[in-house]
Amino acid sequence: MQPGSGRHSYALNSWIQALAIQRLLPTLQYIVNCFKLPQDGIIRVADLGCSCGANVINVANIISASFHTNGASEIQYFFNDLPTNDFNVLFQQLPPLDPTLGGNQNIDACSPPLKSNQLNIFESNVQLQQPILDFGKGTKKMEVETSKRLYYAAGVPGSFWERLFPSSNLHLIISCHALHWITHFPKFIQDKTSIAYNKGQTFINGQNPKAFEACGEAFQENLQKFFVHRAIEMASNGILILIFCHSWTDHPTTKINNESPPHTHVDFITEMCESIWEDFIFEGLITEELRDSFNFPVYYPSAKEIHMAVEKSNVFVIQKFEVRENIIASEMFEQGQQSFLENPDLYGNMLTKTVRSAFGELLEGHIGVELANTYFQRLKQKFAIHVKDSFWKLPNETLLVLKRK
Ligand SMILES: C[S@@+](CC[C@H](N)C(=O)[O-])C[C@H]1O[C@@H](n2cnc3c(N)ncnc32)[C@H](O)[C@@H]1O
Repeated sequence: MQPGSGRHSYALNSWIQALAIQRLLPTLQYIVNCFKLPQDGIIRVADLGCSCGANVINVANIISASFHTNGASEIQYFFNDLPTNDFNVLFQQLPPLDPTLGGNQNIDACSPPLKSNQLNIFESNVQLQQPILDFGKGTKKMEVETSKRLYYAAGVPGSFWERLFPSSNLHLIISCHALHWITHFPKFIQDKTSIAYNKGQTFINGQNPKAFEACGEAFQENLQKFFVHRAIEMASNGILILIFCHSWTDHPTTKINNESPPHTHVDFITEMCESIWEDFIFEGLITEELRDSFNFPVYYPSAKEIHMAVEKSNVFVIQKFEVRENIIASEMFEQGQQSFLENPDLYGNMLTKTVRSAFGELLEGHIGVELANTYFQRLKQKFAIHVKDSFWKLPNETLLVLKRK
């Protein structure tokens, strides 16, 4: 993830995620309102794969405000990401702690919980860097509900594929748009002698069915372990909320068999990305080996795979399992479509920034900054040229609400 708050940063270019999170807010509020608080009223929450920027802070704001409304006395909020995450930026973006919290002024350990009308959640001087959906004239800035901070914040560096917290510790865990990131690929997808060698592709996109299946199996194993780790870390009635992006109802076997053209916007993006590698090889800028030794470390599981991992790990009860069409994002896209068609460069620019904020650093590490700049320059042009052919159907997302058994 591109760190910091500069023009290529994730913080500024994560509007797709922001739209999905906006849609999640009522569900979040409902879940927290119904949550049976522990006797001491102290709540511990963790956001796994938090990154930085408005999205994670909005989620923390809404969860902590809802818990206080429900009667929680104090909230400890853990922000987890890999150690390479820009925690410094995140911590600087956090709103100031509400001075009425903490027991050092009006509240002591025995005082009643704050009432909702005491919570001034929308008042703040903090300026956040906000994801921007750039439609030219009609540019939308994602609204950020900044607030006084109603929780104690802590950073937890580490991989969510491993244990992160002591046992029976957390009441709510949330993870949005993060679980498609795989830390370790199965080695054989980069092994030339393996039938699962992902030759000719940098995404695990179904073009190489064996690589796709192998990654699917590894992902299934990891996801089951993820559920077991989280169940151990949670209090007995703990809730786990997950949003997976770009998921299908079932695996896109038609894609594996190449029977149909790409059908989502993500397919369009990956196809354009792959074509740039081909161009680079054709022009002698890189070798095939260099391309084939690189894989974007993402695997988008189907809803069916996610469901299977929950069932097999057998540690959570499903409260909600919803495959949602990304309706809001589609609407936003439709609003922008006319502007994009009139000004394809705008479209190229916006989409390239989104891709770069996620993958820019990795690519720079593999082919160097100069060539990575050329890569993204060309990607911008390709997106602009193909604006008319691009598929406006945005992929589904899967929302999962689980309760610890
Ligand atoms: C697309 S961002 C999502 C950020 C935020 N949750 C949101 O919805 O805007 C994915 C984040 O997951 C983090 N991540 C990837 N693999 C991880 C792992 N194994 N453990 C913890 N965080 C991880 C990445 O570093 C990145 O910050």
